Amino acid sequence: MIKLSCPVCQAPLTLANEDRQLRCDAGHNFDRARQGYWNLLLPQRKKSKNPGDSGEMIQARRRFLDAGYYWLIAERLTQLLVEQLEGVANPNLLDLGCGEGYYTTQIEEALEAAGLEANIAGLDISRDAVRSACQRSKNIDWLVATGADMPLPEASLDALTLMFSRVMPEPMAKVIRPGGLLLVVWPGPDHLIELRELIYDEVRRREFDPGADLEPLFEPVRTETLKFDFEVGGSEALTDLLEMTPHGHRIRSETRDRILTRESLGCHADIRFGLYRRQ
Ligand SMILES: C[S@@+](CC[C@H](N)C(=O)[O-])C[C@H]1O[C@@H](n2cnc3c(N)ncnc32)[C@H](O)[C@@H]1O
Ligand SMILES: [Zn+2]
Repeated sequence: MIKLSCPVCQAPLTLANEDRQLRCDAGHNFDRARQGYWNLLLPQRKKSKNPGDSGEMIQARRRFLDAGYYWLIAERLTQLLVEQLEGVANPNLLDLGCGEGYYTTQIEEALEAAGLEANIAGLDISRDAVRSACQRSKNIDWLVATGADMPLPEASLDALTLMFSRVMPEPMAKVIRPGGLLLVVWPGPDHLIELRELIYDEVRRREFDPGADLEPLFEPVRTETLKFDFEVGGSEALTDLLEMTPHGHRIRSETRDRILTRESLGCHADIRFGLYRRQ
């Protein structure tokens, strides 16, 4: 299991009560949810009743990812991790903003297949997301918590992955050990360009690069690009694609109907993998 610290007082948390509870020496305790995850999000840290992605967004993303459209992203992600973690004994890895756990589970399977006995955790602020992720694997520690103040000891991680989620340089730097790996994955300017052209009158092709925000806490290693084309067929898959992206939520209903009556949509994936080392 990954090492955890108390979200109230930061003392180490240990398993108690036949592994049904986590406890710190100051007596704060947290019950394991029936589904198996740990809720370490303090009520006062919530900005809304159900923070993070909604249940509908999560289910749409899960169906879309399980259909395999993005398996090339998972493949490159896991290759990079296996390559970078080679030689690290029992690496501790956290997938921050893990959502419904598709990539986290791929990471777990790949590291296991590579013979790396890793401790893996997935953390997300959305309880719906973590509940859904929990069904994917019992070998991962699933946490409902905020990425802004993670319930992990300082410098306890060998690697942190951040897939399509918000970059929070300082909180991430706190939990990654010096020399540890940060792998950030984000969409490039041409990602889903066909869909965006159907939705917006004017498509902004802005290049995002977390490098500047991560300095000086992280040293850049390299950035890779992955591009591929794929075809999304049928109104169910197209609905899921709209539902899981922010674009689908900004759409006019006529445009939505026009997209959903199509037989299929040819799409372009444009993905960046940024590797950094904690200074
Ligand atoms: C676009 S989704 C990506 C999910 C997953 N990594 C994937 O690629 O399928 C972004 C995720 O970040 C989560 N999130 C948003 N704010 C967060 C925070 N402060 N701490 C942790 N997770 C957060 C959302 O709930 C959502 O699941
Ligand atoms: Zn405590």
